[in-house]
Amino acid sequence: MEEVPELAFATSTSEPHAGSLADVLWRAAPERRRRCRPDTRDQLGLAPLVRDDRGVLRALLLENLHPLASSVLKAQGIEVETRSGALDESELFEALQGVQLLGIRSKTQVTARVLAEAGDLLAIGAYCIGTNQIELGAASRAGIATFNAPFSNTRSVVELAVAEIIALTRRLTEHDGALHGGIWDKSAEGAHEVRGRTLGIVGYGNIGSQLSVLAESLGMSVVFHDSSEKLSLGNARRVESLDELLDVADVVTLHVDGRAGNAGLFGAPQFARMKPSAIFLNLSRGFVVDYWALREAVLSGRVAGAAVDVFPVEPKSRGDHFDSELRGLPNVILTPHVGGSTEEAQRDIGQFVSGKLREYVNTGSTTLSVNLPNLALDQHPGCHRFAHLHHNTPGVLAAVNRTFAEHGVNIEGQLLATRGEFGYVVTDVSADIDQAVITQMQEMEQTVRLRVLS
Ligand SMILES: NC(=O)c1ccc[n+]([C@@H]2O[C@H](COP(=O)([O-])OP(=O)(O)OC[C@H]3O[C@@H](n4cnc5c(N)ncnc54)[C@H](O)[C@@H]3O)[C@@H](O)[C@H]2O)c1
Repeated sequence: MEEVPELAFATSTSEPHAGSLADVLWRAAPERRRRCRPDTRDQLGLAPLVRDDRGVLRALLLENLHPLASSVLKAQGIEVETRSGALDESELFEALQGVQLLGIRSKTQVTARVLAEAGDLLAIGAYCIGTNQIELGAASRAGIATFNAPFSNTRSVVELAVAEIIALTRRLTEHDGALHGGIWDKSAEGAHEVRGRTLGIVGYGNIGSQLSVLAESLGMSVVFHDSSEKLSLGNARRVESLDELLDVADVVTLHVDGRAGNAGLFGAPQFARMKPSAIFLNLSRGFVVDYWALREAVLSGRVAGAAVDVFPVEPKSRGDHFDSELRGLPNVILTPHVGGSTEEAQRDIGQFVSGKLREYVNTGSTTLSVNLPNLALDQHPGCHRFAHLHHNTPGVLAAVNRTFAEHGVNIEGQLLATRGEFGYVVTDVSADIDQAVITQMQEMEQTVRLRVLS
Protein backbone atom coordinates (compact mmCIF):
# COMPACT_ATOMS: atom_id res chain seq x y z
CA MET A 1 0.00 0.00 0.00
CA GLU A 2 1.44 3.35 -1.02
CA GLU A 3 1.66 5.97 1.66
CA VAL A 4 -0.74 8.91 1.50
CA PRO A 5 1.26 12.12 1.72
CA GLU A 6 0.75 14.63 4.46
CA LEU A 7 -1.79 17.13 3.31
CA ALA A 8 -2.29 20.58 4.69
CA PHE A 9 -4.94 23.00 3.60
CA ALA A 10 -6.19 26.48 4.14
CA THR A 11 -8.89 28.63 2.57
CA SER A 12 -8.61 32.35 2.01
CA THR A 13 -9.21 34.66 4.90
CA SER A 14 -9.25 37.75 2.72
CA GLU A 15 -12.19 39.52 1.20
CA PRO A 16 -12.94 38.42 -2.36
CA HIS A 17 -14.07 40.66 -5.17
CA ALA A 18 -17.34 42.25 -4.10
CA GLY A 19 -20.52 41.12 -5.78
CA SER A 20 -19.25 37.73 -6.97
CA LEU A 21 -20.47 34.38 -5.68
CA ALA A 22 -17.03 34.16 -4.13
CA ASP A 23 -18.43 36.77 -1.79
CA VAL A 24 -20.97 34.28 -0.49
CA LEU A 25 -18.41 31.53 -0.26
CA TRP A 26 -16.03 33.80 1.56
CA ARG A 27 -18.71 34.61 4.11
CA ALA A 28 -19.15 30.87 4.56
CA ALA A 29 -15.43 30.43 4.98
CA PRO A 30 -15.19 30.74 8.79
CA GLU A 31 -17.82 28.01 9.10
CA ARG A 32 -15.97 25.91 6.52
CA ARG A 33 -12.73 26.35 8.40
CA ARG A 34 -14.31 25.30 11.70
CA ARG A 35 -15.31 21.99 10.17
CA CYS A 36 -11.77 21.35 8.98
CA ARG A 37 -10.66 20.03 12.37
CA PRO A 38 -8.20 22.85 13.06
CA ASP A 39 -6.94 20.93 16.09
CA THR A 40 -5.32 18.37 13.82
CA ARG A 41 -1.83 19.42 12.72
CA ASP A 42 0.40 18.02 10.04
CA GLN A 43 3.96 16.75 10.51
CA LEU A 44 5.35 20.23 10.30
CA GLY A 45 2.92 21.60 12.85
CA LEU A 46 1.88 24.14 10.30
CA ALA A 47 -1.69 24.12 9.19
CA PRO A 48 -5.03 22.43 9.71
CA LEU A 49 -5.20 19.09 7.97
CA VAL A 50 -7.95 17.77 5.78
CA ARG A 51 -7.90 14.39 7.49
CA ASP A 52 -9.81 12.71 10.22
CA ASP A 53 -8.34 12.12 13.65
CA ARG A 54 -6.68 8.89 12.58
CA GLY A 55 -4.90 10.68 9.76
CA VAL A 56 -6.97 8.99 7.06
CA LEU A 57 -8.65 10.67 4.12
CA ARG A 58 -12.29 9.77 3.59
CA ALA A 59 -14.14 9.24 0.33
CA LEU A 60 -17.89 8.95 -0.20
CA LEU A 61 -18.84 7.11 -3.39
CA LEU A 62 -22.50 7.28 -4.42
CA GLU A 63 -24.65 5.78 -7.19
CA ASN A 64 -23.33 2.25 -7.26
CA LEU A 65 -19.94 2.83 -8.84
CA HIS A 66 -17.83 -0.03 -10.17
CA PRO A 67 -15.88 -1.74 -7.33
CA LEU A 68 -12.61 -0.64 -8.94
CA ALA A 69 -13.49 2.95 -8.05
CA SER A 70 -13.20 2.04 -4.36
CA SER A 71 -10.29 -0.34 -4.63
CA VAL A 72 -8.06 2.23 -6.36
CA LEU A 73 -8.71 4.66 -3.48
CA LYS A 74 -8.47 2.03 -0.75
CA ALA A 75 -5.08 0.95 -2.11
CA GLN A 76 -3.94 4.47 -1.24
CA GLY A 77 -5.08 4.10 2.36
CA ILE A 78 -8.18 6.21 1.76
CA GLU A 79 -11.23 5.16 3.77
CA VAL A 80 -14.15 4.62 1.41
CA GLU A 81 -17.89 4.64 2.13
CA THR A 82 -20.08 3.47 -0.75
CA ARG A 83 -23.83 3.98 -1.19
CA SER A 84 -25.97 2.61 -3.99
CA GLY A 85 -28.30 5.57 -4.61
CA ALA A 86 -28.02 9.30 -5.21
CA LEU A 87 -28.50 11.79 -2.34
CA ASP A 88 -30.61 14.92 -2.36
CA GLU A 89 -29.18 18.28 -1.33
CA SER A 90 -29.79 18.02 2.41
CA GLU A 91 -28.67 14.38 2.59
CA LEU A 92 -25.53 15.26 0.69
CA PHE A 93 -24.88 18.19 2.95
CA GLU A 94 -24.92 15.86 5.99
CA ALA A 95 -23.00 13.06 4.33
CA LEU A 96 -20.13 15.29 3.26
CA GLN A 97 -19.07 16.32 6.73
CA GLY A 98 -15.55 14.97 7.27
CA VAL A 99 -15.35 13.76 3.68
CA GLN A 100 -12.51 14.87 1.38
CA LEU A 101 -13.40 13.04 -1.84
CA LEU A 102 -16.86 12.68 -3.38
CA GLY A 103 -17.69 10.26 -6.20
CA ILE A 104 -20.98 10.54 -8.09
CA ARG A 105 -22.61 9.70 -11.40
CA SER A 106 -25.20 11.86 -13.13
CA LYS A 107 -28.05 11.75 -10.58
CA THR A 108 -26.50 13.54 -7.61
CA GLN A 109 -26.86 17.31 -7.92
CA VAL A 110 -23.89 19.07 -6.35
CA THR A 111 -25.21 22.58 -5.83
CA ALA A 112 -23.42 25.79 -4.90
CA ARG A 113 -24.99 25.54 -1.44
CA VAL A 114 -23.62 22.04 -0.85
CA LEU A 115 -20.20 23.12 -2.08
CA ALA A 116 -20.14 26.20 0.10
CA GLU A 117 -20.93 24.09 3.16
CA ALA A 118 -18.69 21.10 2.39
CA GLY A 119 -15.77 22.43 4.37
CA ASP A 120 -13.63 19.31 4.13
CA LEU A 121 -14.20 18.56 0.47
CA LEU A 122 -11.08 18.54 -1.67
CA ALA A 123 -12.17 16.97 -4.95
CA ILE A 124 -15.17 15.53 -6.79
CA GLY A 125 -15.08 12.64 -9.23
CA ALA A 126 -17.91 12.51 -11.77
CA TYR A 127 -17.81 8.83 -12.80
CA CYS A 128 -19.41 9.63 -16.17
CA ILE A 129 -18.86 12.04 -19.05
CA GLY A 130 -21.22 14.90 -18.24
CA THR A 131 -20.61 17.35 -15.40
CA ASN A 132 -23.82 19.42 -15.69
CA GLN A 133 -24.94 17.98 -12.34
CA ILE A 134 -22.13 19.87 -10.58
CA GLU A 135 -22.07 23.65 -10.25
CA LEU A 136 -18.54 23.88 -11.57
CA GLY A 137 -18.13 27.62 -11.05
CA ALA A 138 -19.00 27.22 -7.39
CA ALA A 139 -16.62 24.25 -7.11
CA SER A 140 -13.78 26.37 -8.48
CA ARG A 141 -14.57 29.24 -6.14
CA ALA A 142 -14.51 26.80 -3.22
CA GLY A 143 -11.17 25.41 -4.45
CA ILE A 144 -12.64 21.95 -5.12
CA ALA A 145 -11.10 20.12 -8.08
CA THR A 146 -13.52 18.20 -10.31
CA PHE A 147 -12.66 15.31 -12.62
CA ASN A 148 -14.72 13.22 -15.05
CA ALA A 149 -14.17 10.38 -17.53
CA PRO A 150 -14.32 12.07 -20.92
CA PHE A 151 -13.46 9.01 -23.01
CA SER A 152 -13.74 5.84 -20.91
CA ASN A 153 -16.99 4.76 -22.57
CA THR A 154 -16.26 6.07 -26.06
CA ARG A 155 -15.65 2.60 -27.49
CA SER A 156 -18.93 1.29 -26.05
CA VAL A 157 -20.93 4.05 -27.77
CA VAL A 158 -19.10 3.44 -31.03
CA GLU A 159 -19.78 -0.29 -30.96
CA LEU A 160 -23.50 0.29 -30.36
CA ALA A 161 -23.60 2.74 -33.26
CA VAL A 162 -21.89 0.19 -35.56
CA ALA A 163 -24.33 -2.54 -34.48
CA GLU A 164 -27.30 -0.25 -35.13
CA ILE A 165 -26.04 0.94 -38.51
CA ILE A 166 -25.81 -2.67 -39.69
CA ALA A 167 -29.09 -3.72 -38.04
CA LEU A 168 -31.02 -0.84 -39.61
CA THR A 169 -29.42 -1.16 -43.02
CA ARG A 170 -30.45 -4.85 -43.07
CA ARG A 171 -33.88 -4.07 -41.54
CA LEU A 172 -33.20 -6.62 -38.83
CA THR A 173 -35.79 -5.15 -36.47
CA GLU A 174 -38.56 -5.88 -38.98
CA HIS A 175 -37.39 -9.44 -39.67
CA ASP A 176 -37.04 -10.04 -35.97
CA GLY A 177 -40.50 -8.60 -35.24
CA ALA A 178 -42.17 -10.60 -38.03
CA LEU A 179 -40.65 -13.88 -36.97
CA HIS A 180 -41.49 -13.31 -33.30
CA GLY A 181 -45.01 -12.63 -34.59
CA GLY A 182 -45.04 -16.00 -36.38
CA ILE A 183 -44.63 -14.64 -39.95
CA TRP A 184 -41.96 -15.96 -42.35
CA ASP A 185 -41.22 -12.94 -44.57
CA LYS A 186 -38.00 -13.76 -46.43
CA SER A 187 -37.11 -10.83 -48.67
CA ALA A 188 -34.10 -8.77 -49.76
CA GLU A 189 -36.16 -5.65 -50.34
CA GLY A 190 -34.76 -2.58 -48.62
CA ALA A 191 -31.84 -4.56 -47.12
CA HIS A 192 -28.32 -3.41 -47.96
CA GLU A 193 -24.68 -4.08 -47.14
CA VAL A 194 -22.97 -1.22 -45.36
CA ARG A 195 -19.88 -1.72 -47.53
CA GLY A 196 -19.69 1.08 -50.08
CA ARG A 197 -22.33 3.23 -48.37
CA THR A 198 -21.58 6.70 -47.01
CA LEU A 199 -21.64 7.45 -43.30
CA GLY A 200 -22.17 11.10 -42.33
CA ILE A 201 -20.87 11.87 -38.84
CA VAL A 202 -22.03 15.11 -37.23
CA GLY A 203 -19.60 15.94 -34.41
CA TYR A 204 -16.11 14.49 -34.95
CA GLY A 205 -14.96 14.39 -31.33
CA ASN A 206 -13.94 11.37 -29.25
CA ILE A 207 -16.89 9.24 -30.36
CA GLY A 208 -17.38 10.53 -33.88
CA SER A 209 -13.72 10.12 -34.84
CA GLN A 210 -13.47 6.59 -33.43
CA LEU A 211 -16.65 5.60 -35.25
CA SER A 212 -15.04 6.97 -38.40
CA VAL A 213 -12.15 4.49 -38.07
CA LEU A 214 -14.40 1.46 -37.46
CA ALA A 215 -16.81 2.42 -40.25
CA GLU A 216 -13.96 2.63 -42.75
CA SER A 217 -12.77 -0.80 -41.70
CA LEU A 218 -16.25 -2.06 -42.66
CA GLY A 219 -15.80 -0.57 -46.12
CA MET A 220 -17.92 2.55 -45.61
CA SER A 221 -16.97 5.99 -46.94
CA VAL A 222 -16.98 8.60 -44.22
CA VAL A 223 -17.84 12.29 -44.41
CA PHE A 224 -18.01 14.41 -41.29
CA HIS A 225 -19.01 17.84 -40.19
CA ASP A 226 -17.65 19.47 -37.06
CA SER A 227 -17.97 23.08 -35.95
CA SER A 228 -14.28 23.02 -34.88
CA GLU A 229 -11.19 22.21 -36.91
CA LYS A 230 -10.58 18.45 -36.66
CA LEU A 231 -7.96 16.13 -38.07
CA SER A 232 -9.53 13.72 -40.61
CA LEU A 233 -8.67 10.12 -39.78
CA GLY A 234 -8.03 7.59 -42.54
CA ASN A 235 -9.85 8.60 -45.70
CA ALA A 236 -12.63 10.47 -43.93
CA ARG A 237 -13.58 13.69 -45.71
CA ARG A 238 -14.53 16.85 -43.91
CA VAL A 239 -17.48 18.84 -45.26
CA GLU A 240 -18.09 22.46 -44.43
CA SER A 241 -21.78 22.32 -43.61
CA LEU A 242 -24.44 20.01 -42.23
CA ASP A 243 -26.42 20.40 -45.47
CA GLU A 244 -23.45 19.23 -47.52
CA LEU A 245 -23.26 16.12 -45.34
CA LEU A 246 -26.99 15.45 -45.60
CA ASP A 247 -26.81 15.60 -49.39
CA VAL A 248 -24.43 12.61 -49.61
CA ALA A 249 -24.89 10.44 -46.48
CA ASP A 250 -26.74 7.12 -46.54
CA VAL A 251 -26.48 7.03 -42.75
CA VAL A 252 -26.49 10.20 -40.62
CA THR A 253 -25.28 9.86 -37.05
CA LEU A 254 -25.13 12.62 -34.42
CA HIS A 255 -22.23 12.82 -31.94
CA VAL A 256 -22.26 16.50 -31.01
CA ASP A 257 -21.76 17.69 -27.46
CA GLY A 258 -24.40 19.10 -25.14
CA ARG A 259 -23.76 22.84 -25.57
CA ALA A 260 -26.95 24.88 -25.34
CA GLY A 261 -26.66 26.05 -28.94
CA ASN A 262 -27.23 22.49 -30.15
CA ALA A 263 -30.85 22.45 -28.97
CA GLY A 264 -33.05 21.63 -31.96
CA LEU A 265 -30.03 21.21 -34.24
CA PHE A 266 -31.85 18.51 -36.22
CA GLY A 267 -35.52 18.94 -37.20
CA ALA A 268 -37.93 18.82 -40.13
CA PRO A 269 -35.70 20.78 -42.60
CA GLN A 270 -32.76 18.45 -41.92
CA PHE A 271 -34.86 15.27 -42.26
CA ALA A 272 -36.28 16.66 -45.52
CA ARG A 273 -32.76 17.28 -46.78
CA MET A 274 -31.56 13.71 -46.09
CA LYS A 275 -31.24 11.32 -49.02
CA PRO A 276 -34.43 9.30 -49.58
CA SER A 277 -34.34 6.11 -47.49
CA ALA A 278 -31.33 7.24 -45.48
CA ILE A 279 -30.90 6.08 -41.89
CA PHE A 280 -30.64 8.31 -38.85
CA LEU A 281 -28.98 7.77 -35.44
CA ASN A 282 -28.83 9.90 -32.33
CA LEU A 283 -26.65 8.67 -29.48
CA SER A 284 -25.57 12.15 -28.36
CA ARG A 285 -28.15 14.27 -26.51
CA GLY A 286 -31.96 14.13 -26.59
CA PHE A 287 -32.58 17.86 -26.91
CA VAL A 288 -30.58 18.04 -30.13
CA VAL A 289 -33.35 16.45 -32.21
CA ASP A 290 -37.01 17.24 -32.86
CA TYR A 291 -38.42 13.72 -32.40
CA TRP A 292 -41.88 14.66 -33.70
CA ALA A 293 -40.17 15.57 -36.96
CA LEU A 294 -38.32 12.24 -36.90
CA ARG A 295 -41.63 10.44 -36.37
CA GLU A 296 -43.09 12.17 -39.44
CA ALA A 297 -40.00 11.35 -41.49
CA VAL A 298 -40.19 7.66 -40.55
CA LEU A 299 -43.95 7.41 -41.16
CA SER A 300 -43.63 9.10 -44.54
CA GLY A 301 -40.82 6.71 -45.50
CA ARG A 302 -38.39 9.58 -45.97
CA VAL A 303 -36.17 8.01 -43.28
CA ALA A 304 -35.78 4.24 -43.70
CA GLY A 305 -34.80 3.55 -40.10
CA ALA A 306 -33.60 5.22 -36.95
CA ALA A 307 -31.82 4.40 -33.70
CA VAL A 308 -32.30 6.64 -30.70
CA ASP A 309 -30.53 6.21 -27.36
CA VAL A 310 -31.09 9.63 -25.78
CA PHE A 311 -34.25 11.58 -25.04
CA PRO A 312 -35.02 15.15 -23.92
CA VAL A 313 -36.66 13.85 -20.74
CA GLU A 314 -35.54 10.47 -19.44
CA PRO A 315 -37.10 8.43 -16.63
CA LYS A 316 -35.11 8.66 -13.42
CA SER A 317 -35.02 5.04 -12.31
CA ARG A 318 -34.93 1.56 -13.67
CA GLY A 319 -38.43 0.20 -14.20
CA ASP A 320 -40.02 3.66 -14.57
CA HIS A 321 -42.57 4.17 -17.35
CA PHE A 322 -41.18 5.50 -20.63
CA ASP A 323 -43.21 7.39 -23.18
CA SER A 324 -42.15 8.84 -26.52
CA GLU A 325 -43.53 9.81 -29.89
CA LEU A 326 -41.09 7.27 -31.32
CA ARG A 327 -42.61 4.21 -29.65
CA GLY A 328 -44.05 1.60 -31.99
CA LEU A 329 -42.52 2.94 -35.22
CA PRO A 330 -41.22 0.44 -37.81
CA ASN A 331 -37.45 -0.09 -38.09
CA VAL A 332 -36.77 2.22 -35.17
CA ILE A 333 -34.48 0.97 -32.41
CA LEU A 334 -35.01 2.61 -29.02
CA THR A 335 -32.50 2.05 -26.22
CA PRO A 336 -32.56 3.56 -22.70
CA HIS A 337 -29.40 5.71 -22.85
CA VAL A 338 -27.15 2.66 -22.73
CA GLY A 339 -24.65 3.76 -25.40
CA GLY A 340 -21.87 3.97 -22.84
CA SER A 341 -23.24 1.35 -20.49
CA THR A 342 -21.07 -1.72 -20.68
CA GLU A 343 -19.26 -3.49 -17.90
CA GLU A 344 -15.97 -2.65 -19.61
CA ALA A 345 -16.81 1.05 -19.70
CA GLN A 346 -17.92 1.08 -16.05
CA ARG A 347 -14.67 -0.59 -15.02
CA ASP A 348 -12.59 1.86 -17.07
CA ILE A 349 -14.49 4.85 -15.70
CA GLY A 350 -14.00 3.62 -12.11
CA GLN A 351 -10.31 3.20 -12.60
CA PHE A 352 -9.81 6.42 -14.56
CA VAL A 353 -11.64 8.82 -12.25
CA SER A 354 -10.32 7.29 -9.03
CA GLY A 355 -6.86 7.51 -10.57
CA LYS A 356 -7.38 11.23 -11.15
CA LEU A 357 -8.53 11.74 -7.54
CA ARG A 358 -5.55 9.77 -6.25
CA GLU A 359 -3.12 11.85 -8.33
CA TYR A 360 -4.68 15.09 -7.14
CA VAL A 361 -4.42 13.99 -3.51
CA ASN A 362 -0.85 12.73 -3.89
CA THR A 363 0.74 15.30 -6.16
CA GLY A 364 -1.71 18.17 -6.71
CA SER A 365 -1.93 17.16 -10.38
CA THR A 366 -5.00 18.64 -12.08
CA THR A 367 -4.58 17.04 -15.52
CA LEU A 368 -8.01 16.84 -17.22
CA SER A 369 -9.75 18.58 -14.32
CA VAL A 370 -12.89 20.13 -15.78
CA ASN A 371 -12.82 23.23 -13.58
CA LEU A 372 -9.30 24.05 -12.39
CA PRO A 373 -6.25 25.09 -14.42
CA ASN A 374 -4.57 21.92 -15.66
CA LEU A 375 -1.09 21.04 -14.40
CA ALA A 376 0.53 17.62 -14.85
CA LEU A 377 2.66 16.97 -11.78
CA ASP A 378 4.72 14.02 -10.60
CA GLN A 379 5.90 13.05 -7.14
CA HIS A 380 7.99 15.51 -5.14
CA PRO A 381 10.54 13.44 -3.19
CA GLY A 382 12.31 15.35 -0.47
CA CYS A 383 10.36 18.55 -1.13
CA HIS A 384 7.47 20.43 0.37
CA ARG A 385 4.96 21.25 -2.33
CA PHE A 386 2.84 24.41 -2.14
CA ALA A 387 -0.20 24.06 -4.39
CA HIS A 388 -1.79 27.49 -4.51
CA LEU A 389 -5.10 28.05 -6.25
CA HIS A 390 -5.82 31.74 -6.61
CA HIS A 391 -7.85 34.38 -8.37
CA ASN A 392 -6.06 35.13 -11.62
CA THR A 393 -5.03 38.74 -11.12
CA PRO A 394 -1.69 40.38 -11.90
CA GLY A 395 1.12 39.96 -9.38
CA VAL A 396 0.17 36.69 -7.64
CA LEU A 397 3.23 34.77 -8.84
CA ALA A 398 5.48 37.64 -7.78
CA ALA A 399 3.81 37.76 -4.36
CA VAL A 400 4.21 33.99 -3.86
CA ASN A 401 7.88 34.13 -4.78
CA ARG A 402 8.45 37.23 -2.64
CA THR A 403 7.01 35.31 0.32
CA PHE A 404 9.46 32.46 -0.19
CA ALA A 405 12.37 34.87 -0.69
CA GLU A 406 11.53 36.87 2.45
CA HIS A 407 11.73 33.66 4.50
CA GLY A 408 14.91 32.39 2.85
CA VAL A 409 13.14 29.46 1.18
CA ASN A 410 14.83 28.15 -1.96
CA ILE A 411 12.53 27.17 -4.84
CA GLU A 412 13.39 23.81 -6.40
CA GLY A 413 10.75 23.90 -9.13
CA GLN A 414 7.64 25.83 -10.07
CA LEU A 415 4.76 25.51 -12.53
CA LEU A 416 1.89 27.89 -13.24
CA ALA A 417 -1.30 27.40 -15.23
CA THR A 418 -4.28 29.71 -15.55
CA ARG A 419 -7.86 29.11 -16.62
CA GLY A 420 -10.25 32.02 -16.84
CA GLU A 421 -10.52 33.68 -13.47
CA PHE A 422 -8.28 31.14 -11.68
CA GLY A 423 -4.56 30.49 -11.53
CA TYR A 424 -2.76 27.49 -10.03
CA VAL A 425 0.88 27.80 -9.07
CA VAL A 426 2.69 24.78 -7.67
CA THR A 427 6.05 25.34 -6.03
CA ASP A 428 8.45 22.71 -4.70
CA VAL A 429 10.79 23.88 -1.95
CA SER A 430 13.41 21.86 -0.13
CA ALA A 431 14.13 23.95 2.96
CA ASP A 432 12.29 23.63 6.24
CA ILE A 433 9.37 26.00 6.25
CA ASP A 434 7.76 27.76 9.13
CA GLN A 435 4.16 28.71 9.79
CA ALA A 436 4.78 32.31 8.73
CA VAL A 437 5.24 31.27 5.10
CA ILE A 438 1.91 29.45 5.05
CA THR A 439 0.10 32.17 6.94
CA GLN A 440 1.37 34.85 4.59
CA MET A 441 0.29 32.87 1.52
CA GLN A 442 -3.11 31.92 2.84
CA GLU A 443 -3.76 35.52 3.77
CA MET A 444 -3.05 36.78 0.27
CA GLU A 445 -6.17 38.47 -1.05
CA GLN A 446 -6.23 36.23 -4.14
CA THR A 447 -5.87 32.87 -2.35
CA VAL A 448 -8.71 30.42 -2.96
CA ARG A 449 -7.06 27.33 -1.53
CA LEU A 450 -3.57 26.49 -0.39
CA ARG A 451 -2.44 22.89 0.02
CA VAL A 452 0.94 21.95 1.39
CA LEU A 453 2.07 18.42 0.58
CA SER A 454 5.12 17.16 2.41
N1 LIG B 1 -25.46 7.53 -25.43
C1 LIG B 1 -24.59 7.48 -24.45
O1 LIG B 1 -24.66 6.66 -23.56
C2 LIG B 1 -23.45 8.44 -24.49
C3 LIG B 1 -22.24 8.07 -23.91
C4 LIG B 1 -21.17 8.95 -24.01
C5 LIG B 1 -21.34 10.18 -24.63
N2 LIG B 1 -22.54 10.53 -25.12
C6 LIG B 1 -22.73 11.83 -25.79
O2 LIG B 1 -22.11 11.76 -27.08
C7 LIG B 1 -21.75 13.07 -27.49
C8 LIG B 1 -20.34 13.06 -28.06
O3 LIG B 1 -19.42 12.69 -27.04
P1 LIG B 1 -17.84 12.90 -27.30
O4 LIG B 1 -17.14 12.32 -26.12
O5 LIG B 1 -17.46 12.45 -28.63
O6 LIG B 1 -17.79 14.49 -27.23
P2 LIG B 1 -16.67 15.44 -27.79
O7 LIG B 1 -16.78 16.69 -27.04
O8 LIG B 1 -15.36 14.73 -27.85
O9 LIG B 1 -17.14 15.71 -29.32
C9 LIG B 1 -18.20 16.52 -29.67
C10 LIG B 1 -17.86 17.14 -31.01
O10 LIG B 1 -19.02 17.77 -31.54
C11 LIG B 1 -18.61 18.97 -32.16
N3 LIG B 1 -19.79 19.84 -32.26
C12 LIG B 1 -20.49 20.41 -31.27
N4 LIG B 1 -21.55 21.06 -31.74
C13 LIG B 1 -21.54 20.86 -33.08
C14 LIG B 1 -22.39 21.26 -34.11
N5 LIG B 1 -23.50 21.99 -33.87
N6 LIG B 1 -22.08 20.92 -35.37
C15 LIG B 1 -20.97 20.18 -35.64
N7 LIG B 1 -20.12 19.76 -34.67
C16 LIG B 1 -20.42 20.10 -33.42
C17 LIG B 1 -17.52 19.50 -31.26
O11 LIG B 1 -16.69 20.43 -31.92
C18 LIG B 1 -16.78 18.20 -30.92
O12 LIG B 1 -15.75 17.92 -31.83
C19 LIG B 1 -21.93 13.97 -26.28
O13 LIG B 1 -23.13 14.67 -26.40
C20 LIG B 1 -22.03 12.98 -25.14
O14 LIG B 1 -22.78 13.49 -24.07
C21 LIG B 1 -23.60 9.68 -25.09
